[in-house]
Amino acid sequence: MGASVRPVAVVTGAAQGMGLAHALGLAAAGFDLVGIDRDAQGLARLGEAVPGARCLNADVTDEAAVGSCFAALDRIDVLVNNAGGAASAAPLCETSLAEWDANLRLNLTSQFLCIRAALPRMLERQDGAIVNIASSAVFSGSTAALHRPSGPIGGPVGGPVGGPVSNLVAYVAAKGGVVAMTRALARELGPCGIRVNAVAPGFTPTPRVRAAFPRAAMDRMLADQAIARLQRAEDATGAVVFLASAAARFITGQVIRVDGGGSMG
Ligand SMILES: NC(=O)c1ccc[n+]([C@@H]2O[C@H](COP(=O)([O-])OP(=O)(O)OC[C@H]3O[C@@H](n4cnc5c(N)ncnc54)[C@H](O)[C@@H]3O)[C@@H](O)[C@H]2O)c1
Repeated sequence: MGASVRPVAVVTGAAQGMGLAHALGLAAAGFDLVGIDRDAQGLARLGEAVPGARCLNADVTDEAAVGSCFAALDRIDVLVNNAGGAASAAPLCETSLAEWDANLRLNLTSQFLCIRAALPRMLERQDGAIVNIASSAVFSGSTAALHRPSGPIGGPVGGPVGGPVSNLVAYVAAKGGVVAMTRALARELGPCGIRVNAVAPGFTPTPRVRAAFPRAAMDRMLADQAIARLQRAEDATGAVVFLASAAARFITGQVIRVDGGGSMG
């Protein structure tokens, strides 16, 4: 009897933040882990935390680098496209074409590149699950609290006094593209046995995000949520692991919002 083969999950942006939480969650669920990130030091920490994990140092916006990463993998069951973030933040009229393009490239084009590179391994087995990380800002516009003047929770809605971090149109548009791509690709790949879904987290003060937001602004976020605590990096991991698993075998083209009820409807 041959040794049973463990399924392989690839997570991009796995060195820190939510990607690290998803990587740890998938490893705990029995997947062999492949972490891709441009942060070599963070990847080394991931390698220590998950013995046996393959850590690949690459920029997911770089077509050639993505191609080399995925060419090195002979089996892929799950791809979690997590790497992303706001590449810039400015009112639309002050957004340069280069900033607009950078947001699309980091959040949408990167997912296209990784999916295209991973698909041959899934198509040859007619099996696979892709989980794209979007944002609940696609449904809310952005976290409304960012646009509120400083003051008590529930204060009047006003101008963009959250500072430049409140101006995320290019980022939110890119994440909207992620949702649209997820649905279109689910149609394309369903007949091939490959499911494509998305997870849309709410505002999550990972270390990168915490550095960009004053504490008072983060406290105001709670006013938009039904569950009144700040979101943690690992809060969206359950949805990611579920969509990656056989328990979600008849679910495709869907978006699960994990945002404490910050957006509904
Ligand atoms: N934090 C939030 O409030 C929030 C809310 C909704 C959605 N999201 C999305 O969730 C995902 C994770 O967010 P986070 O806050 O955990 O991010 P983070 O900045 O904490 O971690 C991102 C990881 O991705 C890596 N990375 C970034 N760009 C990369 C690139 N070009 N190539 C390879 N690796 C790259 C970074 O090195 C880092 O390890 C992102 O797609 C983000 O847009 C975040």
